[in-house]
Amino acid sequence: MSQPMRLMINGEVRTLEAPEDMPLLWALRDLLGLTGTKFGCGIAQCGACTVHIDGKPVRSCMLPVSAVGNRPVTTIEGIGATPAGAKVQKAWLDLEVVQCGYCQSGQIMSAAALLAATPNPDDADIDAAMAGNICRCGTYVRIRAAIKRAASGSGAKEAT
Ligand code: FES
Ligand code: FES
Repeated sequence: MSQPMRLMINGEVRTLEAPEDMPLLWALRDLLGLTGTKFGCGIAQCGACTVHIDGKPVRSCMLPVSAVGNRPVTTIEGIGATPAGAKVQKAWLDLEVVQCGYCQSGQIMSAAALLAATPNPDDADIDAAMAGNICRCGTYVRIRAAIKRAASGSGAKEAT
């Protein structure tokens, strides 16, 4: 049975009616029209559905919407308003990371969470933060370069 709920998403209170066990991803996409977050596997294995809850990356395909509570949710539609998210998005554009694009919302959300917590990540930090985000197009080299560019603020051309 659907329940009325209030969620704080990208700095705005949003109201919706959803079954308690509906995955947050469904609520975002189908009830709130926030379709930037993607469905890939539905079993927390690919990272396409990554959003932030309290600033931490979460797989929204496996999280019941009722479990979010009052914690703030940030999606790809709102990440550019955060300092780390803005740097990541600029680096992504500068290095033309995207190929088909399907995985990239999730990649950017994981990268932004990494940089917010660890402003100068080394390769091991990047590996640990990004391991759960799969890219079928194999853009991993450009993703790593863009994370380093976002961290350094450098205008240098890293590997592409
Ligand atoms: S759709 Fe959520 S991890 Fe793949
Ligand atoms: S850019 Fe196509 S799946 Fe990653």
